[in-house]
Amino acid sequence: MPLAGKRILLGVTGGIAAYKTPALVRLLRAEGADVAVVLSRSAAQFVTATTLQAVSNRPVRTDLFDAAAEAAMGHIELARWADLVLIAPATAHCLMRLAQGAADDLLSTLCLATTSPIAVAPAMNNRMWLHPATVRNVARLRADGVIVLGPASGEQACGEVGPGRMLEPDEIVRAVDGLLTPGPLTGIKAMVTAGPTREPLDPVRYISNHSSGKQGYAMAAALAAAGAQVTLVSGPVSLTPPAGVDVVSVTTACEMLDAVMARIAEQTLFVGVAAVADYRPARAAPQKMKKRSGAVRAVELVENPDIVAAVAATKGKRLVVGFAAETEDTIANARDKLVRKGLDLIAVNDVSDRTIGFEGEHNAVTLVTEDGCEHIARTSKHEIARAITDRIASMLAARGDFEIPSAR
Ligand code: C5P
Repeated sequence: MPLAGKRILLGVTGGIAAYKTPALVRLLRAEGADVAVVLSRSAAQFVTATTLQAVSNRPVRTDLFDAAAEAAMGHIELARWADLVLIAPATAHCLMRLAQGAADDLLSTLCLATTSPIAVAPAMNNRMWLHPATVRNVARLRADGVIVLGPASGEQACGEVGPGRMLEPDEIVRAVDGLLTPGPLTGIKAMVTAGPTREPLDPVRYISNHSSGKQGYAMAAALAAAGAQVTLVSGPVSLTPPAGVDVVSVTTACEMLDAVMARIAEQTLFVGVAAVADYRPARAAPQKMKKRSGAVRAVELVENPDIVAAVAATKGKRLVVGFAAETEDTIANARDKLVRKGLDLIAVNDVSDRTIGFEGEHNAVTLVTEDGCEHIARTSKHEIARAITDRIASMLAARGDFEIPSAR
């Protein structure tokens, strides 16, 4: 019962995904949570208070000025009662109101009054999610400390395909477990880089590599499950970000370096999993290069910045972890990289073995530190990520003087 004794205030706002909230309440309660539901006026168009009352076994609140409900538990008391305010689904309108600090209905008032964490699971049409106004509101909410769970990409109720689907109830519950159950990395801020980078030659061509981003995304998920507050700086991949992780999307190595450096000061841990392109074209042509001009045949390349080494160079007490793919002298090459880049730990895999690495679901790595090696035999990328997370947690714990820059 990972949520035993935890009190969750579930705000439901008016989107079609609201039909999934009775299942969400049941799953939260099955894990031991006490769930009180607040329904917005438009949410009542999609799911009834009667249903939610039956599954939560508590009266459902809808109105700020309901005298009887206020007499039983005033809204400020309700805000204090909650260990977590979870809004699922959170509509574009709800995100806008939260970002502005509105307080003209029960849910928005509760969000202003609570001192507990607030998590939102957005759900909306993909164009609404990608609209600059929503992007602005979500950025504001993240800066205010609101935890954004998802959304997932896929088929939408409107028939379109894209980002904006609410995470499934079981995914939301897993994220809530991570938020409310302290793990070995609770209070730690961690940054992960993942995926390939793309280095443009012209508006239609680029240099890149086969990285799928799967190992980096698994790493971000494992660190978040261990309680870390994770920022994932991701190159172009087609993966759904793990719940509860902040994603910064980039394309080129230089953009990745900028995104990392802008946020590195507050991070206790950095894990560089990205397959950063070693070189980029010296110049990206502004127009598509013509085959006949011969320009595509010889491309001048310049070296990209080494992001993990740049982080290590400024590290202070930060723990810096790298990944490496080698085809020969695996351990010796990894040791050399560990020292040359100034890393604390490097996870190296032998990519000459075709059954692991790049686009697959499996990996096998050797963890190399100054003190020695530990081999993790072929298993899923998620298991690999969990094993590395355990190792990171024990390395951090061993540093008795380690400072946690900011607790959640
Ligand atoms: O040198 P190599 O690419 O093998 O090193 C791998 C490690 O260095 C990985 O952790 C990778 O994310 C990081 N790296 C980087 N920036 C680069 C090249 C590699 O952060 N330009």
